[in-house]
Amino acid sequence: MLSSKRILLGITGGIAAYKTTFLTRLLIKAGAEVRIVMTESAGDFVSPLTLATLSKHEVLHSFVREEEGLTDWNNHVELGLWADLMLIAPATANTLSKMASGTCDNLLLACYMSAKCPVLIAPAMDLDMYRHPATRKTLDTLEEYGHGIIPAGEGELASGLHGEGRMAEPEDIVAYMENYLRAGQPLTGMNILITAGPTHEAIDPVRFIGNHSTGKMGFALAEAALELGASVTLISGPTHLQADPSVRLIRVTSALEMYTQAVNAFPEMDVVIGAAAVADYRPERQAREKLKKEGESLELKLVRNPDIIQALGEQKTTQYVVGFALETQNELDFAKGKLQDKHLDAIVLNSLKDSGAGFGSDTNKVTFIDKNFTITPFELKTKAEVARDIMHEIHKRLPK
Ligand code: PMT
Repeated sequence: MLSSKRILLGITGGIAAYKTTFLTRLLIKAGAEVRIVMTESAGDFVSPLTLATLSKHEVLHSFVREEEGLTDWNNHVELGLWADLMLIAPATANTLSKMASGTCDNLLLACYMSAKCPVLIAPAMDLDMYRHPATRKTLDTLEEYGHGIIPAGEGELASGLHGEGRMAEPEDIVAYMENYLRAGQPLTGMNILITAGPTHEAIDPVRFIGNHSTGKMGFALAEAALELGASVTLISGPTHLQADPSVRLIRVTSALEMYTQAVNAFPEMDVVIGAAAVADYRPERQAREKLKKEGESLELKLVRNPDIIQALGEQKTTQYVVGFALETQNELDFAKGKLQDKHLDAIVLNSLKDSGAGFGSDTNKVTFIDKNFTITPFELKTKAEVARDIMHEIHKRLPK
């Protein structure tokens, strides 16, 4: 959810400010771009140099910046508008109160007042301050403004007292942010299973039967489903691709492994998309040792692999099951045949006759066919765009 998101992190002056180094690292690791603005007193608790190094951006704290003889006005409005989400962590009682009353006497508050994006707040203070009616009222007001309050944790406080008021742990803040961004998306609360990549069917310890699939189409679908708020399980055959950390990625090698994982995950799923190029056959026997070169020919006996998407199509109760069809001739007829034979709700046809479509490339050209044989063709596009088109077609057909 945080991938490519622009996060404006506002740090105020409390001991929990030291944890923003870990927080910044986690956000960057999750793929976010982080810009940091801090109050003067935050600098007493955490070094702007450390944060600038981690975020790879200058850390701002004052309205006026003097550089090489030039005086520059830090553009708080621009920063406020740049952000997809503003997080104020730790948020002290002083800053919270100023936010509630609209006081604007530092750069952080000016950014806050200019921000049009959602604002999340992670309060941090001593327990009596946190319990104080003034703080309760302030937090209620900020909630009324539509901001998300990340509840403070309980534990030992800097004062030596024990109780509520500790800033939430960085991992919990990131999880809160992800859930916040996910909520309200069209596929929030939905579980989507996607198969991707090739399968490798071992002949002996060094050789296998495989195909040209790279996994790009399946990984792009996982990304698109994630963007729409779904919880994504991606079962992938051998590929070098990396998935977003929010994706539950299960790496497998053979069709049988992919089948077992898919069947196990299936009952929890709302939607399944079979983008993997699964080997239809595997060698009947896998030699324990490397096969030696003997004679002029070698015969391998192959046996059928289970058809994963067909098995899921036959088992489905409420799930929406979508297959792919990779064809080289009579494309529409073959795709419609697979749609029916495999008990699918829809099938995505791609043809190797279309240049730039199918295996390996960063592009694809697909036709979406649903079970009523409504045919929706698309132009050649990047696999990321194709994946969004497919998710859009699926979303339109899900029960509301
Ligand atoms: O990975 P890329 O390099 O990005 O390439 C993407 C792709 C070309 C692999 C992808 O777009 C695609 O077409 N995937 C399906 C390839 C395929 O195996 O098609 P098929 O027509 O043979 O199979 C039909 C459907 O049955 C597919 O959903 C397939 O996943 C499924 N199947 C097939 C055999 C089997 N044993 N189990 C299955 O689940």
